[in-house]
Parts: sequence; C-alpha cells; structure tokens
Amino acid sequence: MEFRAVLLGILLASSIAGALAGDPSPVQDFCVADVNSSLFVNGLACKNPKLATAMDFFFSGLDKAGDTGNRVGSNVTLVNAARIPGLNTLGISLARIDYAAGGLNPPHTHPRATEILTVVEGSLVVGFVTSNPENRLFLKSLNRGDVFVFPVGLVHFQFNYGKTPAVAIAALSSQNPGVITVANAVFGSKPGIDDGVLAKAFQVDQGVIEDLKAQFK
Ligand SMILES: *[C@@H]1O[C@H](CO)[C@@H](O)[C@H](O)[C@H]1NC(C)=O
Ligand SMILES: *[C@@H]1O[C@H](CO)[C@@H](O)[C@H](O)[C@H]1NC(C)=O
Repeated sequence: MEFRAVLLGILLASSIAGALAGDPSPVQDFCVADVNSSLFVNGLACKNPKLATAMDFFFSGLDKAGDTGNRVGSNVTLVNAARIPGLNTLGISLARIDYAAGGLNPPHTHPRATEILTVVEGSLVVGFVTSNPENRLFLKSLNRGDVFVFPVGLVHFQFNYGKTPAVAIAALSSQNPGVITVANAVFGSKPGIDDGVLAKAFQVDQGVIEDLKAQFK
C-alpha cells in the first residue's frame, strides 16, 4: 500500500515535471510543419508524414555570419520550426549569434526556453538576473569553448568586450522560444505605454521616458 502511494507520488511528480519542462512531447515520430496550413494549433499543423523528406529536417547556412552593422552590434540567426519544418513538436531550436567588437545582445528573455550557449569564436561577458525579490545578477566571462546556461524565462544578455568579433551557438529548449527584448517591449511597444506609467515605474521625469521612447521609434 505504502509502495503504491510512493509510486503514485513519483508518477504524479514526473508527469507534472513533464508538463512544466517545455514544449509538449510528440505523440508520433515527427510532425513536419505544413507551412501552408491555415489551422491554428499549439505549434504548427502536420503535413502528411508520407510526403516528408530529408529536406524537411535540414537547414544550411549557419557558417555565414549575420550582419552586425546595427545599433547594438549583434545579430541572431535563429533556426526554429519556422526555418526547419521537421522541428515542429520536437521542443528544440538553435541560434548562431554574431557580435561585433563591443557588440551587445541586449537584455532579453525567452518565455518558453532554457538556453545553453557555446562560444565558438572570441570572448563574451554574459549574465542573467533572477526573479523578484532577489534580482541577483549571475555574471561570467567566457572564452572560446566555454558553455553557459540561461534558465528559462530569466532576463539575460551577452556582451563582446573584446577587440575582435565573437560568435556563439545557442541551443534552446523550445521549437519556438520567443524573444522579449526588455528595452523594446517597455519603450518600443505599439502603441506606446503611457509616459506617466513608465515615469512612475522607473522613478524618473517624463522627459527621460520620452528620450528613451525616441530611441525605439
Ligand atoms: C505551399 O504552397 C506553395 C504554393 O502553393 C507550394 O509551392 C508549396 O509546395 C506548398 N508547400 C507545402 C509544404 O505543401
Ligand atoms: C542580421 O543579418 C542578416 C544577414 O546578414 C540580415 O539580413 C539582417 O537584416 C540582420 N539583422 C539585423 C537586426 O541586423
């Protein structure tokens, strides 16, 4: 009896863990996304599995650097289920991130994924911040070959303090991790969040908020 209760407890705990771990588990070998389907489901609708080919599981081009000639000096090439239809329902994705010297992948969160990042060229300073009330910063310098983890949902960033470009490859635990860049969401929303609300939230004058908003027009 006691053994059964323990077993039930373990089963319950593991099913809850499964439910919270990330994308739902697949219930078939694969579900290659039907890019033309107009169905709205959690993920993308499957195409007929008999019509799937190796090309549905393939992507080429991660050897090419993204253009970092923008204001933050970084570029993310995301390979998710939208780029590889065969990734649909499989719960993972990949990104190449290029950083110019002094380039920043600005503070952002992935609402649906943990990220594990490997530096393949150059060096980075990376960090993430825990949730309220502690808001503790975890910070680390990384060199080529170093690996760092950003837990699901937490705000994180990577900065290339070096004098040469840097490159990282990141794996993410969702076919569609989502990205919320803090500055863009807060100061660049469309329509904008009321200046008075932001002035109160950040404890500054409305003029400061207007300046910040102007950067994200
Ligand atoms: C989607 O539609 C386009 C245009 O009709 C067609 O060329 C393409 O083969 C379709 N793709 C799939 C996966 O059915
Ligand atoms: C990232 O690089 C690609 C390829 O060079 C380019 O098309 C894209 O506009 C760049 N994105 C940003 C935000 O700079």
